[in-house]
Amino acid sequence: MLRVDGIHLAFGGLRALSGVSVHAERGRITSVIGPNGAGKTSLFNVISGFYTPQQGTVTLDGQPITQLRPSARASAGMSRTFQNIALFHGMTVLDNIKLGAHTNLKGGVFSAGFRLPAARREEQALSAAIQRDIIGLLELDTVQHHYVEDLAYGLQKRVELARALVMKPKILLLDEPVAGMNSEEKREMSRFVLNVRQDWNTTVLLIEHDMSMVMGISDHIVVLSFGKPIAAGTPDQVRANPDVIKAYLGTGDEAAA
Ligand SMILES: Nc1ncnc2c1ncn2[C@@H]1O[C@H](COP(=O)(O)OP(=O)(O)O)[C@@H](O)[C@H]1O
Ligand SMILES: [Mg+2]
Repeated sequence: MLRVDGIHLAFGGLRALSGVSVHAERGRITSVIGPNGAGKTSLFNVISGFYTPQQGTVTLDGQPITQLRPSARASAGMSRTFQNIALFHGMTVLDNIKLGAHTNLKGGVFSAGFRLPAARREEQALSAAIQRDIIGLLELDTVQHHYVEDLAYGLQKRVELARALVMKPKILLLDEPVAGMNSEEKREMSRFVLNVRQDWNTTVLLIEHDMSMVMGISDHIVVLSFGKPIAAGTPDQVRANPDVIKAYLGTGDEAAA
């Protein structure tokens, strides 16, 4: 579904990514991990279109998208969450989720709703579609009319996940979805990502520092260290790889490993 090939990215003299390739198979959960400073966020920004690499290509479902702006990538079926919560206070959970349709009113499975003549009916169709397809799946029923700022952190992150799903993306990019969570919240987030994949067969690319989450839900893992790929494989292969263990040791990230 997503092919990222031979990415080189430098900031001035600093090489953030050197020859990084990641292939996310359709319907699979692929993860990119690495210690702090490894280049995870840089890669995420290259994939979502916020950084332009000096070399390399990004292809989504066969379509070259390396030159597309972030909004055009979203229209092409790419959806993302942000590492830091980007919800709108003073708005309900449901209204925040509806904003996920704002980027592209013409696409997605909810497009039928948007062809209705009156804007108000479009809104209602959108709300109904979200309630039917997303609210239950992510177990947000009881809080859908609450203001987002009143929710616990883990629930706010789940609302972000919900918003990223509104356009039924071909690929869902998750930027450190469990950063700052306690272990209960991490388990919940893992469960919901698995539920989305199971129900919708969504392709997921997860960029994550937290090893426990990645090991628990990934089909395929790519490990970065200092901007270079040092290992790839199944969770068991990666966990047993001495280069990976070495990369995580001495970085202050031992706890994450
Ligand atoms: N916008 C930027 N300008 C300059 N250097 C950056 C920028 N973003 C990241 N870097 C540098 O690139 C390297 C990789 O950083 P980053 O992608 O944030 O790693 P990670 O997300 O794995 O912690 C680091 O050395 C970081 O300081
Ligand atoms: Mg980062």
